[in-house]
Amino acid sequence: MSAPFLSCAYIAASILFIISIRGLSSPETARRGNILGMAGMLLAIAVTLYSDVVKEYYWILGAIALGALVGIWSALKVRMTALPQMVAAFNGLGGLSAVLIALAEILDGSPQYFENAAGLLIGALAFSGSFIAFAKLQGIMNARAITFPLQHMLNAILGIAVICTCAVFSLNGSPQMFYLLAALSILLGFLLILPIGGADMPVVISVLNSYSGWAAVGIGFSLNNVLLIIVGSIVGASGAILSYIMCKAMNRSLFSVMLGGFGNDEKASSAQGSADKTAKTGDPADAAFIMENANKVIIVPGYGMAAAQAQHILKTMAYDLHDKYGVEVKFAIHPVAGRMPGHMNVLLAEANVPYEDVFELEEINREFETADVAFVIGANDVTNPLARTDTSSPLYGMPVLDVEKAKTVFFVKRSLASGYSGVDNPLFYAPNTIMLYGDAKKVASDIVAVLEK
Ligand code: TAP
Repeated sequence: MSAPFLSCAYIAASILFIISIRGLSSPETARRGNILGMAGMLLAIAVTLYSDVVKEYYWILGAIALGALVGIWSALKVRMTALPQMVAAFNGLGGLSAVLIALAEILDGSPQYFENAAGLLIGALAFSGSFIAFAKLQGIMNARAITFPLQHMLNAILGIAVICTCAVFSLNGSPQMFYLLAALSILLGFLLILPIGGADMPVVISVLNSYSGWAAVGIGFSLNNVLLIIVGSIVGASGAILSYIMCKAMNRSLFSVMLGGFGNDEKASSAQGSADKTAKTGDPADAAFIMENANKVIIVPGYGMAAAQAQHILKTMAYDLHDKYGVEVKFAIHPVAGRMPGHMNVLLAEANVPYEDVFELEEINREFETADVAFVIGANDVTNPLARTDTSSPLYGMPVLDVEKAKTVFFVKRSLASGYSGVDNPLFYAPNTIMLYGDAKKVASDIVAVLEK
């Protein structure tokens, strides 16, 4: 196959990837975006296999079959709530492939030392960092920030050592320097992610995603492969933009996220004195009665709704309220509700909740003061008012949904336990709050049973 034809096919695949990402930016066009992305990948793989660069098919076809099996298994088996760790694992594999390709290139006598060093360094960071992120999110290791004295100093020294080794390798191409660079970068990746915990983890996943893209760019230059350069840049840039958006949503700076330490002192800023306060409890019949007599109900879903898979019954509840009782019902989504960006939007879309009933934080926050009921189901941190007032809280600065401004606030959850950040929520004890204890799906089903009587 001629080089110009290969380049044209790669550019066509890249265009498909770009249109695909555009499609993924809205639930209405996400399905089409996915299909275009798959078409781009199919085209890229097909022309690469057909090109002269591939000399040996057995290993490649074996790897494609193995990758396809893992992909199909993940798509069928991994629960929505486990997507962050799946993304971490895939980022790590992306980083590992960059490391292995750089190694193969060096063993093959490639003279492009700097490009290989860049791919190796960033790939190794993405690999070991994602390994720790996966272990934390999967509960294999303590999810909290792990800190120790002189940690930042150690990381800084290691970072300088990595840069120096990278520079020396780029000049002399010595295999020993290559192995040293690999070992130091992997160690740095482990150490950089250890002190990060709590609600900063999603940002870290996105940063690591970005790293895996830049690693592909480095490898793309060393292989002289235009597709890897373009696609790596898309992944690197979109990961970086997503990290920025998430930091903004949580009012954290990327710098402080990457320095870590968040999430290890959560109990310190818990709502003091909560032990001597009591939370009012209600039952599904009370909730049904109050909501069917309301003019306006705003539903705030969170991680617990996802864990309980309560989205379908929640939709039924919302439309019973609207259709049978004439209540105005809206859904309010916090940008980091759940465990991944867009988590709640995806679940509500899956339950066929119309997009026009779903509102982002800044669109709906003012409406809580005119709402009769805020129905908070499986959400916690995203409503915590300490984020506004308690400068010592790890949540401080994160914009939150002003649910307490509604006349009545229902919290559907199984206990008074804290959410992801480990910070108690003083709203549970507020005079206008009623706790509805139980699994989100069960409580919503019981309310629907009363509404449909
Ligand atoms: P959380 O603050 O984590 O609170 C979820 C609540 O759901 C828990 O307090 C839990 O209380 C309850 N729950 C769990 N299982 C339940 C079930 N089966 N039925 C009913 N309730 C259940 O969730 P949130 O308000 O959605 O906030 C998200 C948090 O995760 C933020 O801190 C955010 O920074 C972080 N985070 C976000 C992302 C992204 S990008 N979205 C990714 C990772 C982390 P009980 O145990 O008492 O039931």
